[in-house]
Amino acid sequence: MQNSQLSQEALPQHIAVIMDGNGRWAKEQGKPRVFGHKNGVSSVRKTISTAARLGIKAITLFAFSSENWRRPEDEVGLLMELFMTVLTTEVKKLHKNKLRLRIIGDKSRFSERLQNKIAQAEELTKDNTGMLINIAANYGGQWDITQATRSIAEKVAHGELVPSDITEETIREHLTMSDIPAVDLMIRTGGECRISNFMLWQLAYAELYFTPTYWPEFGEESLVEAVTWFVNRERRFGCTGEQIKALMEK
Ligand code: IPE
Ligand code: IPE
Ligand code: MG
Repeated sequence: MQNSQLSQEALPQHIAVIMDGNGRWAKEQGKPRVFGHKNGVSSVRKTISTAARLGIKAITLFAFSSENWRRPEDEVGLLMELFMTVLTTEVKKLHKNKLRLRIIGDKSRFSERLQNKIAQAEELTKDNTGMLINIAANYGGQWDITQATRSIAEKVAHGELVPSDITEETIREHLTMSDIPAVDLMIRTGGECRISNFMLWQLAYAELYFTPTYWPEFGEESLVEAVTWFVNRERRFGCTGEQIKALMEK
């Protein structure tokens, strides 16, 4: 297999990432946790550009969970500021590269300023045909299933749907991201081996990849390594990172 060309179809179509380990990475350098979050931004950039060059269709990045509000107020405040700054500085670049950006999660809890920023970014990039980037913010897999259930119940209440017509497909259609394929590969950095209420329904058949690498240290090589692992699991033969890289557009 070593010399043969690997085809694009062997790659995951939808990758999801739990970007974990910022705090511990910072602590190891004797710095405050927020230093880790700030440094995590360059890993986001590298991951997006590598995935786009590989021709991945969609990537979903877990930036802030519905449980993360329980963190100290200072840290939550900084994360919101960082989110605001990144949306301001990065969106034009994403747009220039024809990437589409979408924020998924319960946005109602964000400040009006942030909600406006999000709406602008989504509007600017909505017709782009390149990779779709979903940023999961104030997202929880249980919230996603709950909001889907609520909209289905409303349809039943309005007589648009009868309970016996509710199928798995009905639920799938009401979840966020119903317009893209389920996740093929889920990556979690930072060494923990759990899902932490990330997508639940959409991960049903995903390959789960856990790496001890802290998020601020995750880069192009790390993503290529994860994708190589995925291809080798799916196809049960040995392809190399070099073959994966050969698929990258320069
Ligand atoms: C992930 O890193 C970033 C967010 C949850 C916002 P953590 O902040 O969870 O870092 P650790 O897990 O404490 O090292
Ligand atoms: C999961 O990481 C959420 C994000 C990466 C945004 P956490 O660090 O919040 O998860 P737990 O607390 O270890 O489960
Ligand atoms: Mg963590």
